[in-house]
Amino acid sequence: MSQFLLNGREVSVADDQTPLLWAIRDELKLKGTKFGCGIGMCGACTVHLNGRAIRSCITPVGAVAGQAVTTIEGLSPDGQHPLQKAWVAAQAPQCGYCQSGQIMQAANLLQDFPNPSDQDIDAVMSGNLCRCMTYGRIREAIHLAAR
Ligand code: FES
Repeated sequence: MSQFLLNGREVSVADDQTPLLWAIRDELKLKGTKFGCGIGMCGACTVHLNGRAIRSCITPVGAVAGQAVTTIEGLSPDGQHPLQKAWVAAQAPQCGYCQSGQIMQAANLLQDFPNPSDQDIDAVMSGNLCRCMTYGRIREAIHLAAR
């Protein structure tokens, strides 16, 4: 059994080996975090562990016991995080599937680079794949949020 904070709420998951992504979506019923590849290669499942981006598909819940996990639902209490507003303003998503992972990774980027260059954005975001190729609009949204 693993207990941890999920968006500020204490939760428990019976099997320590359950991937965090499965626990978040199937057991704890938060569907904003997405399954893409399941092997840590696409970034769709990105969440924060103690404020840093991790891949929840390859993280067993036992590894987050006693720690704080934040999903897209917990990024801002009202859905009005500067990145979320910028994503809307820049019309970043196309199909939208990868975008919660993109935003969670971008939140980490802005912690490290409050005014990022295109090169900073490309370096940090390169592991978050988008099959619709919205990379240009994602970059624009990150610049907007940084202003
Ligand atoms: Fe986790 Fe692709 S689903 S990195």
